[in-house]
Amino acid sequence: MSKKPVKYAVFNNKGGVGKSTLAVHIAHGLALEGYKVLLLDMDGQNDASLFLGFTSEDYKWTLYDVICGRQRVDLRECVIHARNNLDLLPSTQVDLINLEFYRESRIDLVLNEKLKPLEELGYQFVIIDCGPQRTKVNDAVLCYADGLIVPVQLQAASVRAIGNIYEYLADMRLDADLIKLVVPNMLDQRTNDSRENMEILKEFIANDDLLAAPVFRRTKIAEAGKLGKTVFEYDNESAQQFESVAKRVISIHGSGE
Ligand SMILES: Nc1ncnc2c1ncn2[C@@H]1O[C@H](COP(=O)(O)OP(=O)(O)O)[C@@H](O)[C@H]1O
Ligand SMILES: [Mg+2]
Repeated sequence: MSKKPVKYAVFNNKGGVGKSTLAVHIAHGLALEGYKVLLLDMDGQNDASLFLGFTSEDYKWTLYDVICGRQRVDLRECVIHARNNLDLLPSTQVDLINLEFYRESRIDLVLNEKLKPLEELGYQFVIIDCGPQRTKVNDAVLCYADGLIVPVQLQAASVRAIGNIYEYLADMRLDADLIKLVVPNMLDQRTNDSRENMEILKEFIANDDLLAAPVFRRTKIAEAGKLGKTVFEYDNESAQQFESVAKRVISIHGSGE
């Protein structure tokens, strides 16, 4: 494995589809497999940080200070130790970071430059939780990431909306094969509807090999988040599902992409 971390953004234009949930569980899953992981929370709602049990009272400096701050803040001062092998880099005032990025002439390079010191911190994976929609911050994240992991809620409107992600990539002049994994989320085992949507999803994505095994809809996943725990600490059944997603992420990397 190279010394530089592999950077995956968990992205979907839609909100409420499981981005933060997936980002946190991939990050923790990789950490439990023994990898050194940084979870970068780039969404203004800070759900990923909350799902790990951290609130704004727990951090002094954040990515905002690194990118927009008047004084020089070292990235290392923003990093919070979240779990064994897992650190968290929180953000605040993402709307102001977004404004700042409007002034950047090279949105494709801005995060490479601002986050350069991360490369020296020994992480093997950086997992980025993104906010929804097209924003300058997301433009920058898409350009920065080595790959995208896309959660899709198994609901008709969400499945159809996956086309918007391909359009966004095309508009950014990014290749569709930046998408490395599509994770169907909230499969309801009691209804046929989810299964049908799973079939429709297969038609929408470029390549079946990109599909991970679906994550079931389970109340315990939402409960764990509210308690600031991951399912690895709370619900064995969901833990196995996210462990399998994390292993898929490791195998993408292993295949040399
Ligand atoms: N598989 C699932 N089963 C049950 N609840 C889920 C599942 N995935 C996500 N959730 C819940 O759905 C809500 C939205 O998920 P979240 O990860 O915050 O989505 P996003 O980041 O895309 O807005 C959260 O309350 C989360 O706990
Ligand atoms: Mg979110």
